[in-house]
Amino acid sequence: DDAAGQAVFDDLIEADSRVEPRDWMPAAYRRTLVRQISQHAHSEIIGMQPEGNWITRAPSLQRKAILMAKVQDEAGHGLYLYSATQTLGITRDEMTQQLIDGKARYSSIFNYPTPTWADMGAIGWLVDGAAIVNQVPLCRCSYGPYARAMIRICKEESFHQRQGFEILLTLMQGTAAQRQMAQESVDRWYWPSLMMFGPPDDESPNSARSMAWKIKRFSNDDLRQRFIGMLVPQAEVLGITLPDPELAWDEDAQQWHTSPIDWNEFSEVLAGRGPMNAVRIQTRRDAHEGGAWVRAAAAEYARKQALRDAE
Ligand code: ACO
Repeated sequence: DDAAGQAVFDDLIEADSRVEPRDWMPAAYRRTLVRQISQHAHSEIIGMQPEGNWITRAPSLQRKAILMAKVQDEAGHGLYLYSATQTLGITRDEMTQQLIDGKARYSSIFNYPTPTWADMGAIGWLVDGAAIVNQVPLCRCSYGPYARAMIRICKEESFHQRQGFEILLTLMQGTAAQRQMAQESVDRWYWPSLMMFGPPDDESPNSARSMAWKIKRFSNDDLRQRFIGMLVPQAEVLGITLPDPELAWDEDAQQWHTSPIDWNEFSEVLAGRGPMNAVRIQTRRDAHEGGAWVRAAAAEYARKQALRDAE
């Protein structure tokens, strides 16, 4: 019964063990996981678009091969994460429908445009860099299927981050125009990448409970701080300026002091009014409709195969 189930669940969480799909779990824990993991899956799938934009225009064959591999990795991450979410009792069809109806959240970061090649570098360095900082602790998430999916995803994200850094490094060693393109791209992506970690702790309605359940291991602000600490020395190596004149280590507070983050911009993007929200959803909807014949053919093949097997 529920009381016995709750006691077993509480013990599992207390002991830092893993909750598995067939275990009893509180309804709110299940809902929280469906919310977070499906959002994460959607982010990976929508996240293919900003970079997909540059596959045909990558500056060399090698760059193109790397970029294609990276975008395919993101599709793979989306698929693992949809599978992990399905273990909680929602179908992939339902999740896809929520996404193309514009009812599901996905990361704010993918609602910004990618006008230059340097954006491939800035996305790798900043966006995948933020993703790693956020996701490494998720490898220890209390829900088994999510935690296990994150292990491979984090390894691939590390590669993505390095390839982005290397794109920026190459540009920074190039012409004045290339250096300027790299700097402008970082100027555009820096603040949105800080917003990826979510609202400040005192405005994060889900954090306390998710941390008690050991879904989240660190708060949004703690991870944001850790990310800034990672960027500062790397920006120095690149010779790139992080676009925050106030950025400094505060010795007393033992944390990075930053200019205020524009949370109004964040809430506009979450409300669907970011620069690329409408385009992202429309592109995903078109792709879904364009793939209808593939799904129909696969279903028909499965039906015939089942008939043949029954003979
Ligand atoms: N973009 C869109 N929505 C966001 C973002 C963001 N960057 N940050 C927070 N939100 C939403 C939350 O989903 C929540 O909305 P909801 O209740 O309608 O679902 C609301 O803002 C309040 O935020 P929190 O209470 O802080 O929510 P939560 O505890 O879920 O923390 C976080 C947000 C840190 C993003 C968490 O969900 C998480 O770690 N998710 C997994 C990682 C992930 O999704 N990464 C995708 C980005 S990049 C990538 O992986 C390719």
